[in-house]
Amino acid sequence: MITKSSSQKSQKQGGLSAIPSDVKIATKERTSGHPHPYLNGNFYPVFEETVGDEGIECEVDGIIPEVLRGSQYIRTGPNTLNVPADGAPHHFFTGEGMLHGVYFESGSDPNGPIRPRYMNRYVRSDFFKKQNDHGYLHVPLGIIMAPTPFFKFIFHMFWFYIKMAWYKVTNIGDGNTALAYFGSRLLALHEGGKPVETAVPSLNTTGEYYFEEDPNMKDKNAVVTAHPKIDPKTGEMIFFSYSLHKPLAFYSVVSAEGKRKIWRQKVALPKPSMMHDFATTDTYSIMLNCPMYFEPSNMLKGEPTLAFDAKAKARFGLIPRYYNDTTDKVYWFETRACHIFHTANAWDEKDQDGNIIAVCMTACRSDGFLRDITLWQPSGPDNYGGSKTEAERLIQHKAPGSGDYDSQDPDKPFLTLFRFVLATGETQVTTLCQIASEFPMINFDRYMHPDLRYVFSASTEESSFNIGLKVNGIVKTDVHAVIRKKNDLQASGKLKTANIGGEGQWEIGAETLAAVQAQTGQVHRFGPHIYGNEAMFVANSLCTDAQPLAEDDGFLLVYVYDERQMENGVPKDKARQVTELWIFDAKNIGQDIDPVAKVKIPRRVPYGFHGLHLTKEQIQENQEFLARRAAAANS
Ligand SMILES: [Fe+2]
Repeated sequence: MITKSSSQKSQKQGGLSAIPSDVKIATKERTSGHPHPYLNGNFYPVFEETVGDEGIECEVDGIIPEVLRGSQYIRTGPNTLNVPADGAPHHFFTGEGMLHGVYFESGSDPNGPIRPRYMNRYVRSDFFKKQNDHGYLHVPLGIIMAPTPFFKFIFHMFWFYIKMAWYKVTNIGDGNTALAYFGSRLLALHEGGKPVETAVPSLNTTGEYYFEEDPNMKDKNAVVTAHPKIDPKTGEMIFFSYSLHKPLAFYSVVSAEGKRKIWRQKVALPKPSMMHDFATTDTYSIMLNCPMYFEPSNMLKGEPTLAFDAKAKARFGLIPRYYNDTTDKVYWFETRACHIFHTANAWDEKDQDGNIIAVCMTACRSDGFLRDITLWQPSGPDNYGGSKTEAERLIQHKAPGSGDYDSQDPDKPFLTLFRFVLATGETQVTTLCQIASEFPMINFDRYMHPDLRYVFSASTEESSFNIGLKVNGIVKTDVHAVIRKKNDLQASGKLKTANIGGEGQWEIGAETLAAVQAQTGQVHRFGPHIYGNEAMFVANSLCTDAQPLAEDDGFLLVYVYDERQMENGVPKDKARQVTELWIFDAKNIGQDIDPVAKVKIPRRVPYGFHGLHLTKEQIQENQEFLARRAAAANS
């Protein structure tokens, strides 16, 4: 139930936060939880921003690692201005981006205490402004992913396109999905639109991102996936975009200076499909064309227009780094249908002569499209879109690792190795971890290296259709240990017997995987009622040890929220909400450790998506860049 509605003008709430003066939409506080799981509890948006650019000073339990001094951790997520009415369609991915940051302020004394300050800001994109002026404009994902009757679907889509044209919306990028640092700028990203620039540490929006050749933002097609890759060696940004219109996908490479080296080269796909992430090696980019297809004829069958086709193949396109669509080809590989939201790492595998024999990729693979995420609208208690049938509820799923994909939970993602063999066109699939997890995180200093050993992912083992995607811990997987075991089994001729059968299965066996995991894998669960998000890895680069920095020598930063602060899906005491930023020693994950520090943020930070850590030097670089640009504009 909504209890308060107002058209706010800069009302201070809690002293240091307020509903921003430019927000025109009446915000909605509730006394009972919204019926949609992704608007219930700590998924519900917050409407206040911290006042001023200084943020709120936070108390700390523990000792903040010195490497964080002067740096900032920022995470984005959907925070809708226009809360849908109870029962109306909604989707997890929908909502204006809001940034939540903790700035580890150093102060004037370089050896003085680190004082973390929390600040939050809407991403004030053009799309944000138009939604603020005109109301709900989002892509109707809640309709597209639901079994919507034909005329209702046509009406919603037609109305969406009318509004886009009427309000002259040229960029639906709302920055709600992920962040990247490129060209001295922090970019807030959304896979359907252009990036939005943000100043740090204030988190104030400074405009839409343009590539160097397009200072007037005339190119409406400069769409960037939410997960572009920055090559740590060349500084290039590599990305793709996709659309509903042929050729359906485009591939681009931009130099470290922002010049378009490879621009919108066409990648033909059989059908329009949702493609969230991809991966890159030194030589190839890997396009993930999983069978989450946009198929209008589904409406006639009473099925969602955007739906997973379990009978189709998952396709993986190896694209040469500097691909030219008229002279180069994309090398396609296939596996049984699966879905991948996020990749962890990819690398070229070479023989002794340095020839590439395979391309390898680690990613979180599910046997179907996660229905925890498909949830679109309530159709009754305990029955949101995609909810399990009674028969499905009774299924006892098997742990993955034996290639018996039909018996494992199709709604759970598991970290998996894909090996694309260039000579034969074969795809070899090996499950690396039996704990369901997503949002894989690595030490990015070693991205694209075959020797990258650890993946830190967010445990989603408690996620369900009723509560949505919930993260209850951090999983640390030793990728090398599983690959080593696979190679040992292969050498002794025992690998094939570990699999149930079928093409592409290079599984080591569920029992063997469990044994490897027990010896080398680690998991840290936050504790009862405590949930979080993706954990951000920050290398301990200040380490002065003469030895090279170990890959897992660093810290993991994650916002966590204790849901005992909630009752009936709303805060018990809205004025006394606390979110904590937990900082773990990454080496010790799984050793029943406490965080090395807990930053106590006196605000509620809703669950969201991806984050980024910016170093002290990057923050300074951004400030200098913005100062130069302002001076140039005024000259
Ligand atoms: Fe993502």
